Order: sequence, then structure tokens, then C-alpha cells
Amino acid sequence: MNAPHVVVFGSINMDLVARTPSLPVPGETLLGYSFATIPGGKGANQAVAVARLHIPTVMVGRVGNDGFGQALLADLQSAEVNTSDVLVDETTASGVAMIAVDDRSENHIIVISGANGQIEAIDVNRVIQRLPGAAALLLQFEIPLPAVLAAAQAAHQARVRVILDPAPARSDMPAELYACVNIMTPNAVEASKLVAFPVHDPTTAAQAATVLHQRGVETVVIKLGATGVFCATPDESFFIPAFAVKAVDTVAAGDAFNGGMAAALSEGLSIRQAIVWGAATGALSATKAGAQSSLPDRATVETFLKQHDR
Ligand code: RIB
Repeated sequence: MNAPHVVVFGSINMDLVARTPSLPVPGETLLGYSFATIPGGKGANQAVAVARLHIPTVMVGRVGNDGFGQALLADLQSAEVNTSDVLVDETTASGVAMIAVDDRSENHIIVISGANGQIEAIDVNRVIQRLPGAAALLLQFEIPLPAVLAAAQAAHQARVRVILDPAPARSDMPAELYACVNIMTPNAVEASKLVAFPVHDPTTAAQAATVLHQRGVETVVIKLGATGVFCATPDESFFIPAFAVKAVDTVAAGDAFNGGMAAALSEGLSIRQAIVWGAATGALSATKAGAQSSLPDRATVETFLKQHDR
């Protein structure tokens, strides 16, 4: 396959995952079932999701000079993500995420940014070097906002498609950043924070999309979890229902969606078809535990789509 490459600029975390019967309330101590360290980070998850679909993928980011950093790099490399632009930060530990997942597959995530928080202009320069010929630049909000903005502006100028996953949710996204985004993919919580009213179904998603279009975003894709995905392009709006699966752990399901969608777009599929690929990749990820451990390969996604007549 000769699809153009995808560049991902974002976080690389080691996830410290506890399975528990329920999520603890403030002040509560509870006994969990199990503990695991699993490679994660929204940026790295999206990179691995794209690479497992056999699209050339370049990761730009930082890890610490520590055991977690080595393991995170090795994991990216084993997924065939190009890591030559991942800087090993000598002064700051690798990013970690403390995650609790309960019996209902609900989760809590606390991210300690570590090396991801040190990302600055020299890292943006690495992104810029990788833009020629790229199908897309994938961004999220787990690295410093000035770096996200600078990378988005450079990609916009180079006419490389900017796909922004505005996660974790924030309400202070700068006006200049909206204007650079080709496709924005908030979930309901993130969309609500951006537009300052509750988004929870296709009707409120359509209202949010109108606001985001007015701020300059070209195409708005709102992930409504187990309900489906609402999309508003400059020409049309549509809703794609979610694939019904038995979810065991939704950590990284949103990242899987972005990876699947970006991979399909880089192969030249339409936004509608790309959302179906994203929805399938996200649904499959939710059926397995962990972040990168849950991301499906291309054969699995193709079989799943055939089984669902898509
Ligand atoms: O989106 C899931 C990811 O969020 C986890 O892998 C964790 O590292 C946090 O970044």
C-alpha cells in the first residue's frame, strides 16, 4: 500500500492501570483485582492505531531517560511507528497516567505529564520537517498548548490536514487554533466544555457543530460513545450509529477512533467512510483491556467491517 504518511504530535505515557469493583469515592480505600503497566498516552495511542492499519506513521514527542521511556519507545517501534523524532528528555521523567477501571468499564484517569510537558519549539521544528507529503497531522491536548498551536499553524500553511482531538477537555482553546483545524473530534464532555452548553445527543451535537464551524473549524466530528458519531462538514451533516459491542474497557477507544479515521482518510476514503473505519477501530478497542494493548490490526478491522456489511 502506498498511502501517504501520518504525523502524530502528542503525549507518550506509561499507563498504571488498576482494575477495581467500583471507582473510589473521595476518602475511600478499596481493594482492587489487578494492576498492569500498559503503554498509553493519547498521542502514542493514536500513532499505534494508525500504524496497526498499515499506514506509515511518524511520532513526534518526548519520553524520559528511564525504564518507562525505554519500554514506551520499544512498544512504538514494535508497532512500526517511526520514533526517530521522539526525544529522550534527560531532565524529566516519562509521562504516566494513573487509571482505575471498574466492573462497569467506567474509568478515572490522572495524567502526570512529565517529559510530555517539556515539549517546546524544537519539537515543533521536528514536526515541520515531517510535514511534506503527509496526509494528516494528528494533535491532542496532552502536550503544551503553544506547541499544539504552532504545529497546527505550520500544517495549515503547508496544506496538511489538521485533525485535532481536543482531549483532555479545555475551555480556553485559542481562536487562532480553531482556524487551523480541518477536522475536530471532541467527545460529548469535550464538546460541552468547548461550547459551554451540554452536548449529549445528535441534536445538541448539531448545535455544538454550528458554534465550532463559526469559530473556524471545517469539519466537526462529535463522538457520542455507545450512541454513535455526529458529523457536520461544510456541505452536509449526518449521524453514524455506533457498532454494538460488549465493552470491557473504553480506555483509548477515542484514540482508536481517531487513528482509524485518519488511516482511512490517508487512503483517500470519504469522511463518511473514514468515520465508519474510526467507529469500527474504536469499538474493537473497547472489547479489550488497556490502551495500546487494545488497538486492533488491519485484518481484524476489515473482518469486523465485513461482518457488519460495511
Ligand atoms: O486516551 C487514553 C489515554 O489517556 C491513556 O492511554 C492515558 O495515557 C491518557 O493519556
